[in-house]
Amino acid sequence: MDRSLPLKKIAVVTSGGDAPGMNAAVRAVVRSALVKGAQVLGFAHGYRGIIGNEVREMTSKSVGGIVSQGGTILHTARSPEFKKAEGRKQAHDVLIENGAEGLIVIGGDGSLAGAKRLCDEFDFPVVGIPGSIDNDISGTDFSIGFDTAVNTAVEAIDKIRDTAYSHERVFVIEVMGRDNGFIALEVALSCGAEACLIPEVPYRIDEVCESLRNMRKRGKRSSIIVVAEGAAKAEDVQQFIAKQTGFEARYTVLGHMQRGGRPTSFDRVLALRLGVHAVERILQGHTAEMVGMEGGNLVAHPLSYVLGTERTIDPDKLHLVALISQ
Ligand code: ADP
Ligand code: F6P
Repeated sequence: MDRSLPLKKIAVVTSGGDAPGMNAAVRAVVRSALVKGAQVLGFAHGYRGIIGNEVREMTSKSVGGIVSQGGTILHTARSPEFKKAEGRKQAHDVLIENGAEGLIVIGGDGSLAGAKRLCDEFDFPVVGIPGSIDNDISGTDFSIGFDTAVNTAVEAIDKIRDTAYSHERVFVIEVMGRDNGFIALEVALSCGAEACLIPEVPYRIDEVCESLRNMRKRGKRSSIIVVAEGAAKAEDVQQFIAKQTGFEARYTVLGHMQRGGRPTSFDRVLALRLGVHAVERILQGHTAEMVGMEGGNLVAHPLSYVLGTERTIDPDKLHLVALISQ
């Protein structure tokens, strides 16, 4: 492969947990590559689909009308086979057999780790686009899907706040985020939650109960507690609070509704800009990197940096939850 020449055929996949906005990213990748004279192969079901040669040529029409759709028209999957050297070799062979000269991977940190293995082991050009509601990917202020997931959770909790008020109850709401609290923290701030439990910060549930008692003494008779799934189960927190305080308490697990829905404008524009940037980078011969958005500016970081740097919680945001929920 002559890296001095612009690539003429690239492949694209969506991989791992799906995220609202992935379709907007796929659309941006396909349309911008076609405009630049490159062909685009879409593989279904992430790395599993590459291994299985589930390929189709993407046209401008293939991605028509999808910018506002949640999910991914390419489908996605988790592929244990790709974690094995044999599976990655099969995937590489399929890419080469189809004439693909580069691969754009839209996915979370796991998918990006897989992309780096493909680069390292086969010197195959790969550029990643951060797509995950967890927003736990370094090298970008936001990953595609986070804003939509937060807004979905906020809309649900605003509704729950009404019935919590009517019945003067404590409600414990569990949100996604795997081992991180980015969704929980953003949602807690947006909803004016009285407490937020996240894996990154140790907490004492008895102190939460004491805080609820003090708030009730001051006349606040209903409360919302947002719990990241990596910190605790909402049901356990609810049962403990009910037992310790005697207050009426209920819980809701928002679950996979946070992974769907029509992407927000923010996620659509983020996906568009990252998709176009990824095509520009890979057609120029760049590899083993992920595109991102930092301070409103398009960036590209080596996958070694992205995967080797832990994204940290903003402690000021956590302080704000405590400060303004009294
Ligand atoms: P996400 O991309 O949303 O974090 P996963 O962590 O499930 O989702 O990763 C998606 C897929 O990426 C996995 O099913 C696997 O095929 C591949 N993958 C993840 N981590 C690795 C790794 N360390 N090496 C090779 N492939 C990986
Ligand atoms: O990584 C995105 C995510 O939604 C996590 O927040 C969640 O823990 C996980 O995926 C759920 O995975 P699955 O959809 O495979 O159950």
